[in-house]
Amino acid sequence: MAIIALVAAKGSPGVTTSALACALTWHRRLVLAECDPAGGSVLAGYLGGALDGPRGIGELAVGELRDGNLETAFWSQLVDLDAPKRERLLLPGVVDPAQAGSVVPLWQRFADFFTGLERGDPPYDVLVDCGRLHVAGPPWPILRAASVVLVVTGARLPDLSATRALVQAIERDFTEHRVPPGTLRLLLVGGGHGRSEVSKALRLPVIARLPHDPRTAEVLALGGTVRAGRPLMRATSALEVPVGALVDRRRARLAWPVPQGVPDAV
Ligand SMILES: Nc1ncnc2c1ncn2[C@@H]1O[C@H](COP(=O)(O)OP(=O)(O)OP(=O)(O)O)[C@@H](O)[C@H]1O
Ligand SMILES: [Mg+2]
Repeated sequence: MAIIALVAAKGSPGVTTSALACALTWHRRLVLAECDPAGGSVLAGYLGGALDGPRGIGELAVGELRDGNLETAFWSQLVDLDAPKRERLLLPGVVDPAQAGSVVPLWQRFADFFTGLERGDPPYDVLVDCGRLHVAGPPWPILRAASVVLVVTGARLPDLSATRALVQAIERDFTEHRVPPGTLRLLLVGGGHGRSEVSKALRLPVIARLPHDPRTAEVLALGGTVRAGRPLMRATSALEVPVGALVDRRRARLAWPVPQGVPDAV
């Protein structure tokens, strides 16, 4: 399918939890890449830190800067979330903030590499946890390369004002970098204002609303058995359909010139 990036304004709305829930329910082969410069949390949390040695994007970045070996080293830095199938793979994020210094200069390199994974054999979708954008060294090149950018937000008033500023910042950047329009969507988490109110207020379509499901969120944060029937998992399982439709629409647009004035549908 493509690169699907998740990003947020502030206040921990649930980017990592939503991304992990998606990764565990996705029907296609998928790599979940933790590209939050503030650090990854799936390895230490959901996976209970159980690994034989350091692994992830930090190690990959150090190797790439030293030997230029991203293509060969990539697969050995992944953790199989569903072993031994290698259908849902995790690229853990940085743990030590000092490692972020190696990763940040390579965002464009990672963006190009992730783009290639959808054309690999077998192909993988890449779901990227980009974290909050207002930090040092956010992964802008990955957002620009993504087929779908999901802006994760709560739907209460303070969430909306922070998210509005974020959406405007992304739109400005995309215009400046000539990113084809139509990739941005809102992903609501929990209660608050209704979908259409939020969409109107932020002038952006809402792709889905994930339910407030603290029991599942806790398992995803701390480890344990995730049940497919839980509300959050059912919702992320259903998210693949509208995301796929958006990817297809974007591909069709890039292949065919779009007439001026055609409105952007959900
Ligand atoms: N759908 C949900 N229902 C209930 N609680 C949730 C949900 N999603 C996330 N949470 C809880 O909200 C908190 C923040 O979640 P998470 O770490 O995923 O946010 P984040 O946006 O990635 O934050 P950060 O910017 O710190 O990385 C956690 O305690 C998590 O368990
Ligand atoms: Mg997070």
